Amino acid sequence: MEAPEITLILSPQEIGKAASIIKSGGIVAFPTETVYGLGANALDGEAVSKIFRAKGRPADNPLIVHVSSREMLNMVAMDIPELAFKLMDAFWPGALTIILKRKDVVPDITTGGLDTVAVRMPDNEIALALITGSGVPIAAPSANISGRPSPTKAEHVIKDMDGRIDAVIMGGETRLGVESTVLDLTVTPPALLRPGGLGLEEIIGTIGEVKVIEESVRSPGMRYTHYSPKAKLILVEGERKSVLFEVKRLISESRKQGLKPGVLVSRESAMDIECDAKYILGSVNDLKEVANRLFSGLRFLDEAGVDIGIAEGVFTEEREGRAIMNRLRKAAKERVIKKQE
Ligand code: TXA
Ligand code: MG
Repeated sequence: MEAPEITLILSPQEIGKAASIIKSGGIVAFPTETVYGLGANALDGEAVSKIFRAKGRPADNPLIVHVSSREMLNMVAMDIPELAFKLMDAFWPGALTIILKRKDVVPDITTGGLDTVAVRMPDNEIALALITGSGVPIAAPSANISGRPSPTKAEHVIKDMDGRIDAVIMGGETRLGVESTVLDLTVTPPALLRPGGLGLEEIIGTIGEVKVIEESVRSPGMRYTHYSPKAKLILVEGERKSVLFEVKRLISESRKQGLKPGVLVSRESAMDIECDAKYILGSVNDLKEVANRLFSGLRFLDEAGVDIGIAEGVFTEEREGRAIMNRLRKAAKERVIKKQE
């Protein structure tokens, strides 16, 4: 890689430098326990607009505001319901973002013009030190170019953002690997808007009922792309043996068409699949491993220069599995569902 143009902040001792950039209206990428975020002072509309520009993000997609204390939460949100305190006590700092009523100090650009605000306290020392050091809540989407897989390593951030942002804090690999769970607390019962690193089961165990909004089946071509590798990705879902059979068939079919295939597979199927560009997502029995390796896997297809990607969607939709399958479906251009044969 050529020498990057962004400032690389290499040690925790240098976080003060990153905090000064935030305070003076700049944008800095930093690690959280989920994925890397691209941060700016959430209360400074001018600074936040730089995030949208750097990512190429549609202006109507609101950002999550990251806080390091309850006082900071009170700066941005009001009329906070009892359920929110229950959830914060149980899961903050952690991979849970809650939607609350916003205060007027939060500029429209941060919330996409909504009268609500998304807030989360990340469970990462570097992130917390950055927020505390800046003294302001930090608005941060994932630090990828809009539409690309979220970054779980500083190298992913540099790849997408070099020349577009002021600095990146090099914080190693993120622990969870999928983004936070987003829960709307302005409706009754609370609604799950995005499955994520914190399992829905754990939330239900704490507050009882949660409404799960099933995303309507999007018609091809009518949807935003998300998490997408450059090559077309086909997701094969269903029972593992039937999926394995279909994946093999798709590999040979694409070879016949003169295309170079790449696969994202479970550890269980890996031995049975012959392919030059093969990435093991992890074991079907270890959803944490799969969550952790997922976005690197989507980026792997680009690095391997494949013409077509084929992914095994064989992970149970429980705990992290709900987020894993959600991200795979969003990344895929085509979805094949195999019933047991
Ligand atoms: O783990 C994460 O959540 C990471 C790290 C950096 O914290 N951040 C992240 O941000 O994934 P982003 O911008 O990629 O995703 C934020 C999600 C989007 O789906 C957005 O639409 C939703 O949260 N969101 C933000 N504010 C909202 C609001 N007021 N109402 C409803 N949804 C909101
Ligand atoms: Mg994102």
